[in-house]
Formats: sequence, C-alpha cells, structure tokens
Amino acid sequence: GKEDAEYLVSLVRSVPGFPKEGIIFRDFMPVLADAKGLRILLNALEQALPVPPSEFDSIAGLESRGFLFGPAMAAHLGKGFIAVRKAGKLPPETIGESYDLEYGTASVEIETIAVSKGERVLIVDDLIATGGTAKAATDLIEKAGGTVVGFSFVMRLEGLDGLSKLGSTPSSSLISMP
Ligand code: PRP
Ligand code: HPA
Repeated sequence: GKEDAEYLVSLVRSVPGFPKEGIIFRDFMPVLADAKGLRILLNALEQALPVPPSEFDSIAGLESRGFLFGPAMAAHLGKGFIAVRKAGKLPPETIGESYDLEYGTASVEIETIAVSKGERVLIVDDLIATGGTAKAATDLIEKAGGTVVGFSFVMRLEGLDGLSKLGSTPSSSLISMP
C-alpha cells in the first residue's frame, strides 16, 4: 500500500553528482540492506506484476542490479532465472545486442542455450532511465526465440520517457523518481 511505497522511497539514497555532474544517482542498495525494506520490496514487486505469473515461464534479470532480486522473485514464483549480462563475461556460445549510451555503445549478452523457443519471459531491473538497456535485453531475448511479456522495475526515472521504448508490452514500477 501507500505506506509501503513511502517506506521504500525513504530508503532510496539520492546522490547528486554521481557518476557525473548533473545526474542525481538513485541508489536502491539501502532497500536491500534493510530487513523490512527487502521484504516489502519483494512483496510489492509480486503484487505489482504487470502480468499474472501464469503468463511467463521465467524471469530475466539485467546485470548487475537485476541480479540482486530477480532470483528471489523467480524462486518465490516457481520460475527459473536468466542472467542478461554485460558483454564479454560469458563463455561461448553467446548472442549479443548493442545499444546506445549517452556517449558510445554497450552490449548485453546471453548464452544461446539460456532461452528456449517460445519461452515467455518477464524482465526485471532496479531502474529504467532511457530504456536502452531494457530494450536491448528484449531484442536479445526475442532474437533467441523467446517472447518478453512484461517488465518489472523498482524505480522509474521521470522525464526520460524510457517506457516508450518498450512499446505496448506491460510494465510496472514501484517508485517514480524525478
Ligand atoms: C543501470 C540500471 C539499469 C540501466 C538503466 O545499470 O541498473 O540497468 O542503468 O538505464 P537505461 O534505462 O538508460 O538503459 P548500469 O548500466 O549502471 O549497470 P550496473 O547495474 O551494472 O551498475
Ligand atoms: N541510479 C541507478 N542507475 C541508473 C541511474 C540512477 O539514478 N541512472 C541511470 N542508471
């Protein structure tokens, strides 16, 4: 409820000027460090799921902060977990997808065996900003033969319109931050 959302917001640490000037970094690590915050977070993510659990087969977490709660959600829902990694970390065979950063490009990768044909996947991450990372992960999972049926975010940064990159696929975010 409202009190839970307020409790989560109270734990998010806002760091002006990190990683560079003009950015306010929204750090959710203190939510994980707080026993009550962690329990509320996992309950709220499950309550807010953009599609019912019967509509997905697995949860894909985005490196690195999507790895911190995605497996807990997956275990609780009786699903498997797929790690979508930054490029260069995985042994062959992998497939990758590049995306634009503010300056330059980055890539995400999965092992070719990580996704089955027709697998229905929920993508989770701590935060959506421009949406570039979530979009690249979606394209990657679909290239591997899966279907992304929804997105669960802890935080959404306002004003960047990241959700518009994700088309009409349903999403949820627990907290909206300026
Ligand atoms: C952050 C965040 C998301 C992504 C959001 O990760 O955890 O994954 O950026 O930004 P976007 O919507 O503009 O793509 P980061 O790339 O900092 O990696 P990390 O979690 O490994 O620190
Ligand atoms: N916090 C965490 N990750 C991010 C942010 C932020 O404010 N902006 C872009 N990625």
